[in-house]
Amino acid sequence: MREPWRSERVPDRSAYAPDHGGAVVASDWRARLPLLTGALVTLRALQAEDAASLFSMLTTEEVSRFISPPPTTLEGFRRFIAWTQEEQTAGRHVCFAVVPRDLTMAIGLFQVRALEPTFETAEWGFALGSPYWGSGMFVDAARLVIDFAIGTLGVHRLEARAAVQNGRGNGALHKLGAVREGVLRRSLLRGGRYLDQLLWTIFHDEWTDGGAAPEPSPTPRNES
Ligand SMILES: CC(C)(COP(=O)(O)OP(=O)(O)OC[C@H]1O[C@@H](n2cnc3c(N)ncnc32)[C@H](O)[C@@H]1OP(=O)(O)O)[C@@H](O)C(=O)NCCC(=O)NCCS
Repeated sequence: MREPWRSERVPDRSAYAPDHGGAVVASDWRARLPLLTGALVTLRALQAEDAASLFSMLTTEEVSRFISPPPTTLEGFRRFIAWTQEEQTAGRHVCFAVVPRDLTMAIGLFQVRALEPTFETAEWGFALGSPYWGSGMFVDAARLVIDFAIGTLGVHRLEARAAVQNGRGNGALHKLGAVREGVLRRSLLRGGRYLDQLLWTIFHDEWTDGGAAPEPSPTPRNES
């Protein structure tokens, strides 16, 4: 995943901010993200108070080793949260906190960012604290985010990138029914070396009844 953890990673597209004519008026989500409720989690906008829990959940080696490096300080997470609010207002990016139904604490996040002037082609990324891996919360949250991306942001093509070595990340995308399109060679600099990433896509017309069409080719098992 290539999270745009810092604002300088994303070009300024504000001059081309999209004006969607979908079910939800574009300015609604720009001003305020809805609360999305699943069986196991709720998704809501990030709040400044999430900095501490996200810092502890997402900066561990096992969570961060195959993704763009998250902020390394609590203050860095506060700045990241403020930046997500600015990007949402500008109509370029949304970021949901993942909150287990029985907690108020954010244990992870999902990001969706526009790859062109509108959200028709977008990239998503996600990370959960490792105590919640394998809990079912990922799929529960992912379905809500995909429904929101397609139904509200107007996404036609939703891309995800995962390092080839990222067994859980690729396994999670495969399980959702994303289709593996190819390899982006040496596209993620991590730990001083460039990693290849797999490119996975979900199209709006393949996403029905909470799942995409099954991906025919098996996902290679790599490091977990
Ligand atoms: C990616 C992430 C959000 C997924 O959440 P999760 O709770 O671990 O996901 P799940 O357990 O529901 O699904 C992972 C699947 O991958 C499978 N898997 C695990 N290791 C694997 C490997 N080495 N190769 C292939 N599949 C693997 C799991 O068995 C599981 O499938 P199953 O439920 O059918 O058994 C979480 O692992 C995470 O935060 N990772 C760190 C950040 C990250 O890598 N983000 C993704 C970048 S694209």
